[in-house]
Amino acid sequence: MSSLPAFLEARRSIRSYLPESVPRDLIDTWIEAACIAPAPHHSRPWRFVAIDSDATKADLANGMGERWRRDLTADGVDLDLIDSLIEKSYRTITSAPALVLGCLTNEGLDAYPDDQRRIAEWGLALLSLGAAVENLMLAAADSGWSSCWVAAPMFCPEEARDSLKLPSDWLPHALVTLGRADPNYIGRPRPEVPLESLRRFI
Ligand SMILES: Cc1cc2nc3c(=O)[nH]c(=O)nc-3n(C[C@H](O)[C@H](O)[C@H](O)COP(=O)(O)O)c2cc1C
Repeated sequence: MSSLPAFLEARRSIRSYLPESVPRDLIDTWIEAACIAPAPHHSRPWRFVAIDSDATKADLANGMGERWRRDLTADGVDLDLIDSLIEKSYRTITSAPALVLGCLTNEGLDAYPDDQRRIAEWGLALLSLGAAVENLMLAAADSGWSSCWVAAPMFCPEEARDSLKLPSDWLPHALVTLGRADPNYIGRPRPEVPLESLRRFI
């Protein structure tokens, strides 16, 4: 079997970075890479917010953290565990040299009178945001930088939006940390792809 393209293999999720700043023109190039992802109906329902100031990173982490604290408290999670989870998440977000927050809007999406098709249409937009984020991370890896997707805004899009005073129709759904990989960071080995159980030719 032929081997996978090296540029795909090269991207790994990195969770510890050197303090080196990420040049803004590089971030722009990576966002441009995101914006050539496939999207429904030739739309571009995404907005990207690039964050490289410490104060803004802290605003985002605190805004999402407050919501997470409320959710975990309502779940009955132990208070010390809540503190440590939120502290870890705060550190993940604020210690990255740069962040890109991927948001969705309704721009270019088809409008439907019923929930079933409205949800399906929003699902199309979400899929395309995933493709855009993957493009962004691959472009970063291709230029020697590293990244990691952070799920948090998916669970609190309004809080993420309001913490940054974004326009009301920009709904954050994907956060990417970016930076130069800490050479001491050891990620999990990438497991083999069990192709025989994941795909079926018919
Ligand atoms: C939608 C999505 C959400 C993710 N959320 C997180 C997250 O919150 N924190 C984290 O450390 N990694 C997160 N990841 C990264 C995955 O853990 C990672 O991609 C997976 O373990 C495979 O490792 P690799 O990216 O190095 O190949 C997320 C990935 C995706 C696609």
